[in-house]
Amino acid sequence: MNTAAYEDLTGRQLAGYRLGPQIGRGGMAVVYRAEDLRLGRTVAIKLLAPELARNDVFRQRFARESRAAAAIDHPHIVPVYEAGEVDGVLFIAMRYVAGRDLGVLLDRQGPLSVPQTVRIIAQVASALDAAHAHDLVHRDVKPGNILIAEGPDADRPEHAYLTDFGLTKKSLSLSGLTTVGQFVGTLDYVAPEQISGRPVDGRCDLYSLGCVVFEVLTGAPPFRREDDLALLWAHLNDPAPLITAARPELPGALNAVLVKALAKTPDERYDSCLGFVAALRAAGESGDRAAAVPVITTLPGASPAPEPRPQPQPGTETGAVPVPPAWAWPVFGARDGTAG
Ligand SMILES: Nc1ncnc2c1ncn2[C@@H]1O[C@H](COP(=O)(O)OP(=O)(O)OP(=O)(O)O)[C@@H](O)[C@H]1O
Ligand SMILES: [Mg+2]
Repeated sequence: MNTAAYEDLTGRQLAGYRLGPQIGRGGMAVVYRAEDLRLGRTVAIKLLAPELARNDVFRQRFARESRAAAAIDHPHIVPVYEAGEVDGVLFIAMRYVAGRDLGVLLDRQGPLSVPQTVRIIAQVASALDAAHAHDLVHRDVKPGNILIAEGPDADRPEHAYLTDFGLTKKSLSLSGLTTVGQFVGTLDYVAPEQISGRPVDGRCDLYSLGCVVFEVLTGAPPFRREDDLALLWAHLNDPAPLITAARPELPGALNAVLVKALAKTPDERYDSCLGFVAALRAAGESGDRAAAVPVITTLPGASPAPEPRPQPQPGTETGAVPVPPAWAWPVFGARDGTAG
């Protein structure tokens, strides 16, 4: 990102908003709390990296996806108020969510209980199913894009919001916009079909949601490898570890649910995100009711334990990888620097 975009713009006025303190920063944007001067309400303003504004394909996608996301009125999707451009900077004005993102929550609290996981993920799943019903695929479901605010009452202590539809650099690389070596964001949650450049639908979000659930329950995403290529290879080829290998006290029935959500082939996953959550809930409760339920220690297609020490995979080497192998071109770009 151009360093000018990281200059502190607090106090500046932009398109009818007065920028307050910076509240977050990702790989391609800076987020400020701001005041909408017309309505006097607090909003969050996301300023996208200037190099994105200079890219026509991204601008078209940005306009299209912002419109699509704004069209969905859902209690668990951050409402987009306005998306536009001012002085060559693309911005999005959206609801300010007072709270923290799920990644920060996990850093602070460690793994969550099964009931809390189900409560939060059910909200995200309903948001995703609604988006998919509008033919909108998120493509970047991850803890940083799940914002957690305080819920309305003791029965509903959290209110989860999904944010950032279609604003991923991964989707840029998949549409041919990045070059070798450019940062493509976290690859911890990316679905096999996104990696191999096959057509994606809502089931890629289901895979990513499965990775998020794995992390929420165990403290780490299913695949951890030393470098990006090894990680991509694992998403494509390695069976996911069993969840009980990391947390043996969890109900064994959860293993089969995660294995299905993390299936390499979209057809083998759940039909919907809420279907996944229903299975998760049932598996969690089966453990509550009958502590004697045998714990599954192996499943066909599941590796016995997470691998704490990642191994280099074929086509990869430790250290810098100047030329990605052909199978990773959809993510990293081809040899000549253009994505495959
Ligand atoms: N509407 C919002 N209300 C409150 N905080 C927000 C809002 N949107 C984003 N944030 C905060 O700003 C942070 C940065 O967001 P941003 O989307 O730029 O980065 P990211 O999602 O963490 O990473 P990436 O660059 O991969 O998208 C978020 O993690 C979140 O904590
Ligand atoms: Mg984000």
